[in-house]
Amino acid sequence: RIRTGRKVPLWASFPEVISALRKAYPPPRKQGLTVFFTGLSGAGKSTLAKILYARFMELGDRPVTLLDGDIVRQNLSRELSFSKEHRDINVRRIGFVASEITKNRGIAICAPIAPYASTRTEIRRRIEEYGGFAEVHVATPIEECEKRDRKGMYAKARAGLIKGFTGVDDPYEPPECPELRIDTTHMTPNEAVKDILLFLGEKGYI
Ligand code: PPS
Repeated sequence: RIRTGRKVPLWASFPEVISALRKAYPPPRKQGLTVFFTGLSGAGKSTLAKILYARFMELGDRPVTLLDGDIVRQNLSRELSFSKEHRDINVRRIGFVASEITKNRGIAICAPIAPYASTRTEIRRRIEEYGGFAEVHVATPIEECEKRDRKGMYAKARAGLIKGFTGVDDPYEPPECPELRIDTTHMTPNEAVKDILLFLGEKGYI
């Protein structure tokens, strides 16, 4: 039984119903899409997000927007700290922009830490009203992130120079059921992005 809601009048003929349904519920590759990376600092979110962005640009069928954690902090959330309240505000802002992009059938790639599960769920619910949502947990273990420590922030956090650093003395709640979980310890960024693209392709998003 098809639940047509108010989008298809009950008195419509069968072809009218089909064409109204097609318009109301386009196939995934014609809908907007948000790919939402989450994971610890240094897990590889930004690297994967940038490569994925480049791949989508090559495809060229939908506008693509990259909402990387650092860039958003500089441009949209400069006044915010890393308290729970401010992290939630930051992640909700990203979620709102991604939902607008998805609503307009574009592709949004988000890459914040987004440490809190309930905030991520809230964003997922909002975006799924408008199109596709794929949560990618970049599950590189903290030992590996800390070994890389590209920005030297773990060293500062361990030395007590940065307080409330995710994974050190601030929480990270791993997603229970992400669409994909990727540990970048033993794979190249290109291999990881290939897995993401294969997944999105199988689901009909691209
Ligand atoms: S959040 O929690 O989603 O609002 O964080 P996000 O906006 O993605 O910002 C994470 C980057 O900020 C740097 N940074 C910190 N991270 C975690 N905890 C604390 N206290 C902190 N202070 C600064 C850190 O370099 C993160 O960069 P990435 O790109 O994730 O490594």
